[in-house]
Amino acid sequence: MDKIVILDFGSQYTQLIGRRIRELGVYSEIVPGERKPDSALLEGCKGIVLSGSPYSAWQEGSPAPDLAMLGTGLPILAICYGIQWLTMHAGGVVERCETREYGSMRVRFLPAVQDSGRAATLLEGLPDSFLSWMSHGDSIVRPGEEWDVVGISESGVPAILAHRARPWFGLQFHPEVSHCEHGMDILANFVFRICGAERGWSMEAYLEQEARLLRERVGKEPVLLLISGGVDSTVAGAFLLKSLDPDQVYLLYIDTGLMRKAENEEVMHNLSRLGARHLEAVDAEAQFLSALKGVADPETKRHIIGDMFVKVQQDAVVRLGIPDAFLAQGTLYTDLIESGKGVGNKAQVIKSHHNVRSPLIEKKRAEGRVIEPLDRLYKDEVRALGRVLGLPEEIVGRHPFPGPGLGVRILGDITKEKCDILREADSIFIAELRKRGLYDRIWQAFCVLLSVRSVGVAGDERAYKYVVALRAIQSEDGMTAQPFAFEPKDLFEISAAITNRVQQIGRVVYDISSKPPATIEWE
Ligand code: XMP
Repeated sequence: MDKIVILDFGSQYTQLIGRRIRELGVYSEIVPGERKPDSALLEGCKGIVLSGSPYSAWQEGSPAPDLAMLGTGLPILAICYGIQWLTMHAGGVVERCETREYGSMRVRFLPAVQDSGRAATLLEGLPDSFLSWMSHGDSIVRPGEEWDVVGISESGVPAILAHRARPWFGLQFHPEVSHCEHGMDILANFVFRICGAERGWSMEAYLEQEARLLRERVGKEPVLLLISGGVDSTVAGAFLLKSLDPDQVYLLYIDTGLMRKAENEEVMHNLSRLGARHLEAVDAEAQFLSALKGVADPETKRHIIGDMFVKVQQDAVVRLGIPDAFLAQGTLYTDLIESGKGVGNKAQVIKSHHNVRSPLIEKKRAEGRVIEPLDRLYKDEVRALGRVLGLPEEIVGRHPFPGPGLGVRILGDITKEKCDILREADSIFIAELRKRGLYDRIWQAFCVLLSVRSVGVAGDERAYKYVVALRAIQSEDGMTAQPFAFEPKDLFEISAAITNRVQQIGRVVYDISSKPPATIEWE
């Protein structure tokens, strides 16, 4: 399959570049900006994109592409920091600009240059000027002798550049941002006309390719998949059952006591419908809750939950007689990135997604015994894969649910009583969203039980009760998020439904933070 490789230098928009190229029907892969061009990376690679960065190209220690990558002869589209680094590297000058260009900015071509050579191919079909989307504090002051300036912004900054000898281009603006007029046209011209990539990226093609690779890798050996009840592990389960002999696929569902209301029954029902032959549910509520007793720190809770998963799982493989089985999990692209495993050696750990960072997984990963069939997919692509695999809409359309479950939605220490209160409130919230036709318009919604109690009245008496926060967000892939704009009436009625029906809750608040700076979950 043809692909475009994106070298990531830490820009907030790198993910978006990857998605846009896939939307064009071409596979894209985001790798650390410093990655060397090994044969796995170059296989099928038709072009390279250099991303933006929070760094300045002139700053000491700022990230840089490996020079061998530039020596591959592949076409390059360098965006923002990418083009600043490239021009500086060839003798150009980049400086901090006095006024930061941010937001919509008109870009106009310099016609003499635009009419000639490869730049004309990159810009084919575009009007003489258009509204771009800028986000930069540094500018190219002089591009150096190797580069032509093909377009400038309304404030006179070089905005489109073309290399004189090689198929290399630079954009100071961000074509991947939806507010950038003709951004997709430029990306399409680069991908198809300059790189000559062919469309091959579709869920059907991905499924076929991954299934073949999986069969080659696994042979007849057993594979164990941990099922959490969320969309990802269910799709991963369906993928394994479709790609392998169902007799070699073991599905293990661990009831941690931190699951949502009626989750256990639902999960078991869905999995047996998939044709699973070895399906085991383990009731580990008591083990999880006792390990978590009195623990309030979020990262400690995450680690305890992660370790306990490993323990329950280790016991299970011994009991099932498959101690050396491959371990499969429904890790997504975004899970790897947030856990600091995805891109760039300057990537940071935002939260330890336990399926990525647990010691057992690390060890198994090092031995090449971990299978993560979804690790190059975004959430919406996982849903598309689920549909191709024939999963019903009520499963693929479910909101994401984190591995540590309610454990990261109960602030402070966790008790069974709190889990039950939260389960009740959450199921009312979700049922209200469905009743109002809002569930499918929201990317993820849930309740959070706060660690404070507050004063209220019940009848004529003073009551001292729990507070829940409602969280409902819109997002493309969980990397960024906006709070959902409810009609006030919906919020008031949902609040009343919860406080009327869950005796222990006296107050409901709505979380209106976006991500960043907040994250979607509270812990
Ligand atoms: P945050 O809270 O990091 O969440 O903004 C982004 C998305 O990831 C989910 N999430 C997790 N999923 N294991 C998972 O499988 C985890 O440890 C984990 N933590 C957060 C979260 O629900 C949201 O959809």
